[in-house]
Amino acid sequence: MKGIILAGGTGSRLSPLTKVTNKHLLPVYNKPMIYYPLQSLQLAGIDQILIVSGKGHAGHFLELLGDGRELGVHLSYAVQEEPGGIAQALNLAEDFADEGPVAVVLGDNIFDHNLSSAVHDFTKQEKGAKIFLKKVDHPEQYGIAFIKNEKIEKIVEKPKNSASNLAVIGVYFYDAQVFKVIKNLKPSSRGELEITDVNNFYLQQDILTYEIMKGWWGDAGESIDTLFETARILYNKVNQK
Ligand code: DAU
Repeated sequence: MKGIILAGGTGSRLSPLTKVTNKHLLPVYNKPMIYYPLQSLQLAGIDQILIVSGKGHAGHFLELLGDGRELGVHLSYAVQEEPGGIAQALNLAEDFADEGPVAVVLGDNIFDHNLSSAVHDFTKQEKGAKIFLKKVDHPEQYGIAFIKNEKIEKIVEKPKNSASNLAVIGVYFYDAQVFKVIKNLKPSSRGELEITDVNNFYLQQDILTYEIMKGWWGDAGESIDTLFETARILYNKVNQK
């Protein structure tokens, strides 16, 4: 399975830190943010990785990471001309995927969970998609899954006053039909091609599986406070505090 890290978007919620620097290149404790999703894919045995970044910053990723050999991975790059949503960024990976399954990680998601066994299970799943869920305190900030009798009934992007607090975190496994699914999407009210619509398509086909994510998970790109908090947690982990 190949890996894709999505590192486009504007990062406006972290302004002014992101006025000049891409969000995924900001330091999170002792590493640039993008090192963490790279490491998560690598730990799962995925070493062919495409980084999708925004127009003004693609050269910075190349300067930092090169072809990936220093980190022990093979990197390719794609440029998202305009931030048209997570699904639009993913669509740029079609040639890279080459009709095979892909593991997609949002470039601001940092987590402990080792994806190896999920990668193994997904290769047996043959078709469909897999998502990862985690309980959160503020469901209005995430895609939220509603579950009944252990089955996902629906996924809603950033619901207000949600009865469920199970967030869909930024790690998604898809079969090769994902690119066809994206081509049929309509932009949402915020003008983006939504990854939640992609996941709901797989759900309607009854080929969406899920796992509850173990350990700690942080969306470092949500706000300046979560960036700071993520760095603090990583500092404590590294220094065993
Ligand atoms: O962190 C998990 C959440 O990520 C999910 O629960 C939500 O369902 C999902 O929509 C997403 O929500 P965010 O509001 O956090 O998405 P954000 O706009 O911050 O984008 C997340 C990453 O996706 C970002 O770090 C880079 C990438 N991205 C985003 C956009 C809008 C792109 O590569 N291109 C884009 O156009």
